[in-house]
Amino acid sequence: MNPRATWKAALPVRIAGLGSHLPSRVVTNDDLAQVLDTNDEWIRSRTGIRQRHYAAPEQATSDLAVEAGKAALADAGLGIEDITSIVVATTTPDHTVPGTAPLVAAKLGTEITAFDVNAACSGFLYALRVGTGLVATGDEAVLVIGAETLTRIIDPEDRNVAILFGDGAGAVVLVPDDAAAIGPFDLGADGSDPSMLWTESGGTRHPVDAAVLEARTQFMTMRGGDVYRNAVARMSASSQAVLDRAGLTIDDVDLFIGHQANIRILDAVGKRLGIPGDKVHITVDQHGNTSAASVPLALTDARDAGRLTTGDTVLLTAFGAGFTWGSTLLTWQPGSPGRAADHAAETAVDADEAVGTVEQDLAGGGETA
Ligand code: UT7
Repeated sequence: MNPRATWKAALPVRIAGLGSHLPSRVVTNDDLAQVLDTNDEWIRSRTGIRQRHYAAPEQATSDLAVEAGKAALADAGLGIEDITSIVVATTTPDHTVPGTAPLVAAKLGTEITAFDVNAACSGFLYALRVGTGLVATGDEAVLVIGAETLTRIIDPEDRNVAILFGDGAGAVVLVPDDAAAIGPFDLGADGSDPSMLWTESGGTRHPVDAAVLEARTQFMTMRGGDVYRNAVARMSASSQAVLDRAGLTIDDVDLFIGHQANIRILDAVGKRLGIPGDKVHITVDQHGNTSAASVPLALTDARDAGRLTTGDTVLLTAFGAGFTWGSTLLTWQPGSPGRAADHAAETAVDADEAVGTVEQDLAGGGETA
């Protein structure tokens, strides 16, 4: 493990709001068996997946992200005017250029800092680290969203991949709070063989052309067994690393929320860590693998199911293409937004004045250089 890829301290940051969005179309295993050489028994026994959600043709990742973001803001009791940065974790952006976060920001009605993080299925853990760092260094409230429209990059004819993935988005609002803690983090990446899980074409190395379309390499492919073994090893080691760094043991963890790729992977990681099954939250049966959306979707689902109590220690971990992996601990402290709302009220006038000046400039009313 690269010791530089770690963050030793927990930071005084709290999740003030949680939200999620799942497209309304549900696709069951039986639905897939109508069009693929597969069946419900194989999918359930090998993956634990029973159904997944598919975005409508007119929906893209930013649309799902916006809905999750609005839900998290409402949950936090904040408006978009209270947010100072937006981070969107996605590996299925609306477009190669620009990023998805600026589109999300525009749809939410703001011109604040907005950028993407792409760490595939570990994307939310990476974005959470970035967001936590932003709050710890002065941001007043950060909206961190994990959002994916994976069904756009899976080959509907490839049963190895098509049965696994779904679409969705989850979001958190992060605020400073001296009584709260997120961290330490353990993040890492091994890009030595990206072909284990990748979309080979469509980027700058292999732009899409007729040969690509013929070979269908614009779709995601995976060496399932290799990914499985690496996922179990990396998520177990990374989870243990944050526990060690925090001076905790697995007995201190109240709820374990791992990346929802395969119930067998979660079972294997749980066994390695020695955490009882009733402390492992499972949503893969309902959502399939939603990549960067899976951890915030599962966290929201756990809260909605009444599985999070104030003061609980929650262990989050994820693994994905790259390979990338990441883990962190958080102390569950829901409640009022506190300092973020106070600060927003203090600074609202200044911000309005600044926006007024820019708008004048853009309209040609300001001074020119
Ligand atoms: O977020 C990280 C991304 N991905 C993952 O974490 C996925 C990690 N990998 C996995 O979850 C598992 O490797 C899979 C679920 C993808 C596959 O499970 P497996 O137990 O490793 O099965 P397998 O690939 O070894 O395939 C076993 C058999 C094969 O047939 P033969 O060669 O034994 O005759 C496959 O052709 O199952 C066949 N098979 C299927 N059969 C019915 C593969 N896909 C299907 C399918 N339906 N959808």
